[in-house]
Amino acid sequence: MRNKLVAGNWKMHGNLQDNSALLEALKIGLPKPENNARYAVCVPFPYLASAQATLNGTQIEWGAQNLSQHEKGAYTGEVSAQMLNDFGCTYAIVGHSERRMLYGESSQIVAEKYVAAQRAGMIPILCVGETLEQRDSDTTEQVIDEQLKAVITLAGVDSLENAVIAYEPVWAIGTGKTATPQQAQDIHLFIRKGISAQNSEIAENLTILYGGSVKANNAMELFAMPDIDGGLIGGASLIADDFIAICKAIQN
Ligand code: 13P
Repeated sequence: MRNKLVAGNWKMHGNLQDNSALLEALKIGLPKPENNARYAVCVPFPYLASAQATLNGTQIEWGAQNLSQHEKGAYTGEVSAQMLNDFGCTYAIVGHSERRMLYGESSQIVAEKYVAAQRAGMIPILCVGETLEQRDSDTTEQVIDEQLKAVITLAGVDSLENAVIAYEPVWAIGTGKTATPQQAQDIHLFIRKGISAQNSEIAENLTILYGGSVKANNAMELFAMPDIDGGLIGGASLIADDFIAICKAIQN
């Protein structure tokens, strides 16, 4: 049976006090996951130690939002996969559209980061998705194909056995404009079919998340779609009650 996952992407938000309070509230408020569901928070690097201290042995996993593609060396300001390992990260997000667009990460670099995460035993959450311009010009599938191909070429299709894909249409991120459940389902199915052509078992077991303005009031209808296996949650993951409600929606 396919794993389901709700992961919070805190992005660059909060401070020591607020983030500690949020972790505590989640620890107390989140029910034990059932039915193959998992919950996670991807926190800014400086809060990984606190996530580890608070969440170790609980029902919540944690991870990072980025990592270096390099193992070690003279890369000022970068954080390696091994360092994330030291703080018990289960996940590392790679290829978020904010990294691709604001920090010039190409699909090749994203693929290298994906490999670096897996090499250190973490599960990469690989983000793919189109801009509004690309959707309007009917190139959504081409864009996603290119983003996936870079990873499959470098790491092989079998590597998806230990990975999660997040479909995040750029036009739906932080805009309050969610893809309709059918729009998201169509792309999730497109992704799964493309992978299935190479390895049907891997495709069938692959967890594919939807991300982009998932809120407590729309999570249930998104998660009800057959190829949507959970969510990558931005804004709503910063509010304990909202994130808890979204996590509960995946249990159904
Ligand atoms: P929002 O949920 O704030 O739209 O962000 C989605 C996202 O980018 C998660 O990675």
